[in-house]
Amino acid sequence: MASSFHWEADSSHCKNHDPQLSVGQKVLSELSAVTVPAPVIDRGVAFSVYSDGIFRGRGYYQLTKQLQKKPSNYHIPVLLQEVLFWIFVDPKGTYLDCTLGGGAHAEAILRRLTPTGLLLGMDLDEEAIDQAGSHLAGFRSRLRLKCDNFSDLGEFLREQGVEKVDGILMDLGISSHQIDAAYRGFSFMQEGRLDMRFGHGQVLDAIRVVNEYSEEELARIMFEYGEERQARVIARRIVQARKKARIESTKALAAIVEERVNPRYLNKSLARIFQAIRIEVNAELQHLQTALAEALDHLKPSGRLAVISYHSLEDRMVKQFFKANAGRCVCPPELPVCTCNQSGKLKILTRKPVRPEQDEIARNPRSRSAKLRVAERI
Ligand SMILES: C[S@@+](CC[C@H](N)C(=O)[O-])C[C@H]1O[C@@H](n2cnc3c(N)ncnc32)[C@H](O)[C@@H]1O
Repeated sequence: MASSFHWEADSSHCKNHDPQLSVGQKVLSELSAVTVPAPVIDRGVAFSVYSDGIFRGRGYYQLTKQLQKKPSNYHIPVLLQEVLFWIFVDPKGTYLDCTLGGGAHAEAILRRLTPTGLLLGMDLDEEAIDQAGSHLAGFRSRLRLKCDNFSDLGEFLREQGVEKVDGILMDLGISSHQIDAAYRGFSFMQEGRLDMRFGHGQVLDAIRVVNEYSEEELARIMFEYGEERQARVIARRIVQARKKARIESTKALAAIVEERVNPRYLNKSLARIFQAIRIEVNAELQHLQTALAEALDHLKPSGRLAVISYHSLEDRMVKQFFKANAGRCVCPPELPVCTCNQSGKLKILTRKPVRPEQDEIARNPRSRSAKLRVAERI
């Protein structure tokens, strides 16, 4: 049990909590006698119980092997030094990591905080909260975690009695663990249930999107969110195929795409289509838009907002949000005084997005599409 300390709280507070998963409660109460003393990271977040090193968390997903991976396998943090450089303004400050993942960015911030500093961490994925909770256990006095959507970050801060913070990080998208875990259904390379939900309790999953959306909706999603040129043809083929049998696995969907796409472009098409469905399942763009506005309201003056995005739709949204709130004066230059009243709320610190260096891309090819944008609250 040496490495399998646990932390616990009441999962019913988690917005993602799926009542169907409460079958695990019984096991939890049976096992509570054998759990080791744990750091309580927050009231009402997520819990895990380990028995003989076996994970039996919420609704017990039976994911033991993956959750026992070392953090470095769980997710390699992208642009780590750059993030620290840009958002870490005060060692006594309060920071919010909206996308904890395996907790590597969070750990780097925690290591630099003085004992009076505080790190608040969120993730929609119970597995990530669990992983980060274990990984960051040594910092418990400076740490609060919550399993929730970052579009509700304001509520989390209110619950913690924190009005404004010094820095907010959003490292968008998906962790390596989520991609690599076949049962999450994010990867077309591995056979798995077409799931693609960040949070286990979300109602909409990829099976419902693929089998229940109309041909037009499917085509729109693949075109808008995946920029897939063959979207219409593929949508038609999906609708034909699902009349014969429900499409429930990653490989079944991939096989349908394969029939319509030139093998030379197949992997790129599959990546675009899987990305598009994932964005739809998790309403990623809608939540990002809300979260950006919330972040603006909860930054102290001179506080920093850093966003790492991995595809052009997200990056465009962040760029436009920063610009819209930079509120530069648009008065004609001949006017002696400003009359447009464009009072800016943000100062853009990165005119161009910060990209990973070649050596980072060589070490971690998944970082290659990352773009970091940073702005400061005025
Ligand atoms: C790229 S990973 C973050 C990795 C993390 N920075 C680290 O150091 O390990 C992105 C994480 O964001 C989470 N996520 C995505 N959308 C979210 C949302 N709307 N609210 C909260 N978490 C979200 C995913 O579950 C995933 O764990």
